[in-house]
Amino acid sequence: MSYANSKIPESAQSGVHEGLAERVARHAAAPFRKPYADYNRTALAESLHGWNGRDPVILDAGCGVGHSTIQLARENPGHWVIGVDQSADRLARRKPYPEALLPTNMVLVRADLVDYWRLLCDAGVRLERHYILYPNPWPKIGHLGRRWHAHPVFPYLPRLGGRLECRTNWQVYIEEFATALELLQGCRVKWQTFHAERPISPFERKYRDSGQTLYRLTIDFDPASAAGAADPFFPPTHGTGND
Ligand SMILES: C[S@@+](CC[C@H](N)C(=O)[O-])C[C@H]1O[C@@H](n2cnc3c(N)ncnc32)[C@H](O)[C@@H]1O
Repeated sequence: MSYANSKIPESAQSGVHEGLAERVARHAAAPFRKPYADYNRTALAESLHGWNGRDPVILDAGCGVGHSTIQLARENPGHWVIGVDQSADRLARRKPYPEALLPTNMVLVRADLVDYWRLLCDAGVRLERHYILYPNPWPKIGHLGRRWHAHPVFPYLPRLGGRLECRTNWQVYIEEFATALELLQGCRVKWQTFHAERPISPFERKYRDSGQTLYRLTIDFDPASAAGAADPFFPPTHGTGND
């Protein structure tokens, strides 16, 4: 497959899955008790080792090769930026950034987010910003439970606080993500299309260069802020979404 020829996820599903609301309610009602794997405990410790305990924390969840983590760290000095991915292979591909050129306010760790998110909650860490950039869409109808918003770990995300942002190239994913947040938080969550002028990650670049529509939503879990408020620095460029 040539580079700028990436496909939008193909699915028999054209709207929000009919089983989503029941899943979200079930997961919100019962604690998720899956035991933690030791390597994820180690990853949590590694990810907080270089943090001074005071700087605001940004999490790049599912960071892939870590280019977005590096960009966030460069743009946010005075913040501690953590990139987490389950794939050691992807994390090792952060080249062409040799170790010596990496910003010092970031760390990349290999962990399963299913454990890492909960461990971060247990450790009492609050995020300032939280990115889930182009998560695996799992477009088959029967794979609903693998999408983050239908996973038992999802209710832990609001507990981490801060401003969560999700980006995807599949409209159904952003609609479902927004719906799940609305069910959990009891407030309206808006999503929008946008143009990635300066792509933040390799997947964003690839989808943009393939001419695909990109979707994003943000929600502020800080109770003092309005949830899902419009971001004046990132207005929708296609004028669509769920307004
Ligand atoms: C489609 S890629 C997107 C990578 C990157 N965010 C980007 O935009 O270029 C999704 C990433 O999520 C990671 N991922 C999927 N499930 C995960 C899990 N349970 N824990 C940690 N990372 C996971 C995959 O390894 C993969 O790198």
